[in-house]
Amino acid sequence: MKIAVIGGGSTYTPELVDGFARLGPMVTELVLIDPAAERLDVVGAFSARILQHYGHPAKIWWTTDLDAGVTDADVALIQLRVGGQQARINDETFPLECGCVGQETTGAGGLAKALRTVPVVLDVAARVRERAKPGAWIIDFTNPVGIVTRALLDAGHKAVGLCNVAIGFQRRFAGHLGVSPSSVVLEHVGLNHLTWERAAYVDGVDRLPGLLQDHLESLAAEVDLAPSVLQLLGNVPSYYLSYFYAHDRHVRAAAGAPTRGSVVAALEASLLEMYRDPALVEKPALLGERGGAYYSEAAVGLIASLHGFDSSSVHSVNVRNEGLLPFLPSSAVIEVSARASVDGPTPLPMTPLPPDLSGLIAHVSGYEEYALDAALRGGRSRVYRALLAHPLIGQHEIADDLTDRLIASGRAHLAWS
Ligand code: G6P
Ligand code: MN
Repeated sequence: MKIAVIGGGSTYTPELVDGFARLGPMVTELVLIDPAAERLDVVGAFSARILQHYGHPAKIWWTTDLDAGVTDADVALIQLRVGGQQARINDETFPLECGCVGQETTGAGGLAKALRTVPVVLDVAARVRERAKPGAWIIDFTNPVGIVTRALLDAGHKAVGLCNVAIGFQRRFAGHLGVSPSSVVLEHVGLNHLTWERAAYVDGVDRLPGLLQDHLESLAAEVDLAPSVLQLLGNVPSYYLSYFYAHDRHVRAAAGAPTRGSVVAALEASLLEMYRDPALVEKPALLGERGGAYYSEAAVGLIASLHGFDSSSVHSVNVRNEGLLPFLPSSAVIEVSARASVDGPTPLPMTPLPPDLSGLIAHVSGYEEYALDAALRGGRSRVYRALLAHPLIGQHEIADDLTDRLIASGRAHLAWS
């Protein structure tokens, strides 16, 4: 099986390669594709050492030529970041001036990212479709994953969106319960970066109530919320829900603090320095300071299922709603637990949602629809409409102000501006 990683020069790539090396015997060829040649050389050579260290026989090579790289691929994994960390830093900064959270995927920053990213991913996907094997899967890790996946599906691509939030919970819950991660089946529901863990089944028994009782403080601390919120909801919201349930605290905390993008830029410089060392053959502990824990395991697991090697594992994927959440249009993209086969993911049945969850999901999904329209067609008024539709913005004067700031800060990457 040939895997093409688009955005393969990322400092995250060794995490992915580590996953293939340990858990991916079906991989025979791995190609890393990235326009940043110098970085790609460093990450590529290090990735080759990782495979060799684990004795994995896959052929690995790297290229700046997208068309050559994706030719005959069975899977294209897209993990690119348009504009690099500098664009992220802009996204994390401009909303703060309007009293709104500055975050790379949530709120106005997430919209800015969607606007510059969707056209690039669609272009990449079209080239994948031309040259990869017929029926090749596109797995999208590129944020904002929900909107990007919707764009890919609307354009007719065979795509699944993936995020590591759920697998992180699965691993943590398994640790607390003293069971193997694969035995924990989550009822994970919502939109990408707007999800709640509503149940955690082990051998058919929901262990979440017990987890909330025995580990309330640590679970709440991990998602940066007060224990009373988890108690009240009776579930575990993801960390990204803290930008909703504790919005103003995040805005206050950002004053004078470095942006996450600047912290990550410094981490990346140190990581690249380490990757250059020919003696380094395993992913360094420092990589654990990035947010991508277990993303390789999520990817390898999903790829195995999509190729018919594992029909029992449960993955959390971004797929079309198709009636699963009855309050959303069928065409919306949601993030839920699913099994997967060569025919694609099949979501698990789920219990109906309470109105606070369904209301917020519907609100953000509505925003996502406007966001995608703005990303595809451009124009100030579409950006304004999307911002006004976002529950964390919602007021016309703020949305208007944010529109100007977003366009000014993102101009370099917006063809229509
Ligand atoms: C989590 C999210 C990813 C996001 C990452 C950011 O893994 O699921 O979607 O890209 O965090 O991590 P970073 O180290 O870049 O802040
Ligand atoms: Mn994610």
